[in-house]
Amino acid sequence: MTRMDAFRNRVGGLAYGGDYNPEQWDPAVWREDVRLMREAGVNTVSLGVFAWASLEPEPGKYEFGWMDEIMDLLHENGISVNLATPTAAPPVWLTQLHPEVFPIMADGERFGFGNRLHYDPSSPIYREYAANITTKLAERYSFHPALAMWHISNEYGPTAYNEAASVNFRRWLRRKYGSLDALNEAWTTRFWSQVYTDWDQIEVPHIPRTWMNPTRRLDFKRFTSDALLECYLAERDIVRSFRDDIPVMTNFMRFFRHADYWKWAPEEDAVALDIYPNPADADSHVSAAFQYDLFRSLKGGQPWMLMEQAASAVSQWPLNVVKEPGRMRLGSLQALSRAADSVMFFQWRASRGGQERFHSAMLPHSGPDSRTFKEVVGLGRELKLLAPVAGTTSRSEIAILFDWDGWWGLEETAGLPRNDFGYADTVMRHYTPLWERHYPVDVVSYGSALDGYKVLVVPNAYLIHDEGVRRVTEFARDGGTVLMSFFSGVVDGSNRVRPDGYPGAFRELVGAKIDEYWPARPHEEFAIAFADGRRATSTWWREDLHLETGTALATYADGLLAGRAAVVENRYGAGRVVYVATLLEQAAFDTLVAETVAAASVRRRFEGVPAHVECSVRGDETHEYVFLLNHSGELSASVPVGGEGTDLLTGQPVAGEVELAPLGAAVIRLAHT
Ligand code: GLA
Repeated sequence: MTRMDAFRNRVGGLAYGGDYNPEQWDPAVWREDVRLMREAGVNTVSLGVFAWASLEPEPGKYEFGWMDEIMDLLHENGISVNLATPTAAPPVWLTQLHPEVFPIMADGERFGFGNRLHYDPSSPIYREYAANITTKLAERYSFHPALAMWHISNEYGPTAYNEAASVNFRRWLRRKYGSLDALNEAWTTRFWSQVYTDWDQIEVPHIPRTWMNPTRRLDFKRFTSDALLECYLAERDIVRSFRDDIPVMTNFMRFFRHADYWKWAPEEDAVALDIYPNPADADSHVSAAFQYDLFRSLKGGQPWMLMEQAASAVSQWPLNVVKEPGRMRLGSLQALSRAADSVMFFQWRASRGGQERFHSAMLPHSGPDSRTFKEVVGLGRELKLLAPVAGTTSRSEIAILFDWDGWWGLEETAGLPRNDFGYADTVMRHYTPLWERHYPVDVVSYGSALDGYKVLVVPNAYLIHDEGVRRVTEFARDGGTVLMSFFSGVVDGSNRVRPDGYPGAFRELVGAKIDEYWPARPHEEFAIAFADGRRATSTWWREDLHLETGTALATYADGLLAGRAAVVENRYGAGRVVYVATLLEQAAFDTLVAETVAAASVRRRFEGVPAHVECSVRGDETHEYVFLLNHSGELSASVPVGGEGTDLLTGQPVAGEVELAPLGAAVIRLAHT
C-alpha cells in the first residue's frame, strides 16, 4: 500500500476541507470551527501554513501550546491534519537579524517586509532556520494521531539575484558542465566577448543595460527551479527522517512558469494544485481542465490533490466577481472528474484582516447562515457519495507535450524572430478543440512513456533537447501521429540554432526545409487554400517552407509566399506527421485538429454532445465513473451514457440518456462489460 492509499483509507475516500489558520482566532472560535467543520463533512485541514511567527515568536523560543491544543481538538473530532511547515513566511526577527535573506530582484531592488515568500531560496541562513523549525515541528508532531500528511512550505516560487544565489548558481553550473570550456561552448560566449576564465566571474543574470546572454538566462531559470526544489527536498527529508509512512507534498500553481513541475513531481507522494479560475472569464473552466489533466499526468496518471480553490470570490484581481450559485460545486466536480482525490479550499474561515480579508472562505464573514456555507455543506454531503471514485484514474489516446524548458526558451530569452510567444496560450489553443470534443487528453514531457498514445500534439517546441527529438521522432516512426505547430525543433538544449537549416531537429520528420521564418506584420492576414478546396485565413506567422518528402495539406493563396505549403503532411516510418506552419484562424485549426485525431482512429466516446457539457471518465479494473457536467447556466442537455449504471449523486439507476439541468451534473457508475 502506498502512502497515498493509506491517506485515502484514512479520510474514507476523498479529502475535503481547506487551509485552517486558528492562529488568527481566539480558542473559543476553534470550538465553533470544528463543530461547523463536522457539519460540512470536512475531514482534512491544512494547518500551519505561514504560522512561523506564532510557532517561533523569537529566535529559538517556541510556542507549541496552541498547536498542541488544536491538533488534539481536530483529532478528537475526526479531522485529519495536513501539517504545513511554515517556511513560506519568515518572521520579521529573522529578516532583521539577517537582511540578506530577503530576495534581491532582477533590477537590484531588495524585497521589504510585509508580504510573504520573502526569502532567497539559495540563502544558507534561510535554509538553516527553515530546517530548524521543520525539525522542531517534526519532533513534536510526527506521531500525533491527527497527522495525516505533510505540506511542505507553500507555493514555492521566489527568484532571487542575491550574492548567495550567485554562489549557488556557480555550484549548479559546475555540476552541470564540469568545465568552463563546456560552459563557454554551451553559452556561445565568443559572441560579444563574454568568455569566462574563472568560475567566480559568473553571477546570476541581473538585468544588464539591454540584453542578456540567452543561455545564461535559460540556465538561470533551470537553476532557480532547482534551488527551490533543494529547499523542498531539505524539509521533506527532515520530516521523513522522523517517520516514513506519512505522505509529503507541496502545493503547486496553475501555469506556473518558474518551477519545472516534471522534475518536482517524483519527489512528492502526490502533486497538489492551487487553482483560482476567474468566474468573470466564461472559459476559465477549459484552462482549468488542462491543469487538471496536467496534474493527473505529472505522476503518470496517479490521482492528484486539489489543494486550494475559492468557495466564491478571490481578492487578487482588480475585479473579483463571485462564483454564482452552483458553480463552486460544478468546479469541484470538474477537478474530481479529472482524477483529483480531494476538494480543498483556501480557506476554512475568512480572515478578518490582512491582504486577503475579502477572499471568500468555506465559512464566510456572513457565517453559517450564508449561501456559501450552505453550498459547502451540500458539497460535503455529495463528496461522501463519491468516495468510490477515489484512487481511480483515466486513460487517453492523445498526449500533449508540455515542457518548461521549451517555455523558458520561448518566453525568457529575447532575440527570437518575434518576441511575443505565449506558450500557455498556445498550449490551450491546441487543447481546446480536443476538450470541446470530449477527448480525454494526457499531458506528457519528453521523459514520459508514450506507448499507448495514438496522437502526440507538439505545440511550438522551439527549444528541444536531443533526447526529446529522439522521442518525438521514434513516436512517429513507430506508427504514431504527430501534430506539430510552427517554430518547433529550432534550437538545442543550449539555445543554439540547430545546423543545416530549420526546422533543424525535425526536417526529416516534417519532410520540409524552412528557408526563413516570416513573422507577420501587425494586422497582416493571409488567405489559405486547403487541398480539398476549403478556404481559411491565417495571421501572425508564416514560414518559407520547401517541401522535401512532405505534401501540402494547405497552401498560401496570396502574398509573397503564394503556393507554398502552410500545412504539411508527411509519412514518416509507420506514422504520420501534420505540421502547421502558420497561425490558422481558430475554426480552421480546430477542424484540422479534429480531422487529425479522427484519422488516427482515436476513439470518440461522446460524439454529438455539446461543448458546454463536459464529459470525462475515470475508472479502475471494475468500474467506470462517467462525469457529465453542464457548464451552461442557461441550457439544459441530454447526454447518452452508453450503458446501464447508477448516478452516484442521486442513487438512481440510469439507462439511455441523462438529463442535465443548467449547471447540472451526474456521476454515473458503470460496470465494465
Ligand atoms: C494561494 C496561497 C494562499 C492564498 C490563495 C488565495 O494559492 O497559497 O495562501 O493566498 O492563494 O489568494
